[in-house]
Amino acid sequence: MTTIRDVAKQAAVSPSTVSHVLNDTRFVSETTRERVLAAVKELHYRPNILARSLRRRETRTLGLIIPDNANPFFAEIVHGVEDFIFDESYTLLLGNSDGNSEKELVYLDLFINKQVDGVVLVASAAKNRASIDLLAANAVPTVIVDREIEAGFSDTILVDNLAGGYQITSYLLALGHRRIGCITGPSQLTPSAQRVTGYRQALEAAGVPLAPQLIIAGDFHSASGYRAAQTLFALPERPTAIFACNDMMALGVLGAAHDAGLAVPREVAVAGFDNIELGKLILPRLTTIAQPTYKLGSLAAELLLLRLREPDRPSERRVLPVHLIERESTRLN
Ligand code: RIB
Repeated sequence: MTTIRDVAKQAAVSPSTVSHVLNDTRFVSETTRERVLAAVKELHYRPNILARSLRRRETRTLGLIIPDNANPFFAEIVHGVEDFIFDESYTLLLGNSDGNSEKELVYLDLFINKQVDGVVLVASAAKNRASIDLLAANAVPTVIVDREIEAGFSDTILVDNLAGGYQITSYLLALGHRRIGCITGPSQLTPSAQRVTGYRQALEAAGVPLAPQLIIAGDFHSASGYRAAQTLFALPERPTAIFACNDMMALGVLGAAHDAGLAVPREVAVAGFDNIELGKLILPRLTTIAQPTYKLGSLAAELLLLRLREPDRPSERRVLPVHLIERESTRLN
């Protein structure tokens, strides 16, 4: 295998000059640069990435953990992270925790053993102390995205979930709905809890009494939205509108409405949260609260690489805005 010494001999320079040319870490004259690059090409030299990683103590590899790789919302976060780091010559190790904090911990341990330079974490649960302790004990630069957890040592990027829950509920109230069902996500996750708080505050602001029987627990998966909608439809006075705390559950609601013979939006209006691609394709198209999902990923990657360059910079907590997208599942055009 060709080594850096073979290249140096062929180009009549020192190995360190070859390294400076390949890593652009010091000025080298144009003629010397051309000699080195010609030798690299003639000898088919490929730098030993592992040796470079050990010497530099960096692998230019990042770890990303998401809680559900079947949900298009997280695929879009991965897309944003990957696009950003590709341009910075980093590669990505991806782990799916399945919303399980034990599996999340296994992935984090694996990432640390593989010497990732940093981690982007979409937490599986609000109380994953073991994961946070592992990251802190190994001083792994970390960016927390979407689900807020007490980490203290990381940067955090969220969206304004409360405003989104408030906005979608106020919109349904403005359409004349007074019995509005709410299907929650996992109650211990901050996004769901904050969206439900927004729902409650909008009802209160409109003087509409909160009816506890209209709030049904889901788990962010479509099947739970289907089941929760069946429960709501079976009420003596069923809701005329349903806000599901994410689009996957809203898709389940649309399926349940269809199977119950209920016309959407005429007999029940349906709204979600996320703005996944599927919501634009199904009929009726889904009204939702749009998250800046791709940007959540790209900004997480940007802040992580910034952290790698400036380890002592102050931690950041960014809260990105969301906005309503009205489609036919709440109002026929
Ligand atoms: O759809 C998955 C949900 O989990 C999204 O609303 C996102 O905010 C995450 O918390």
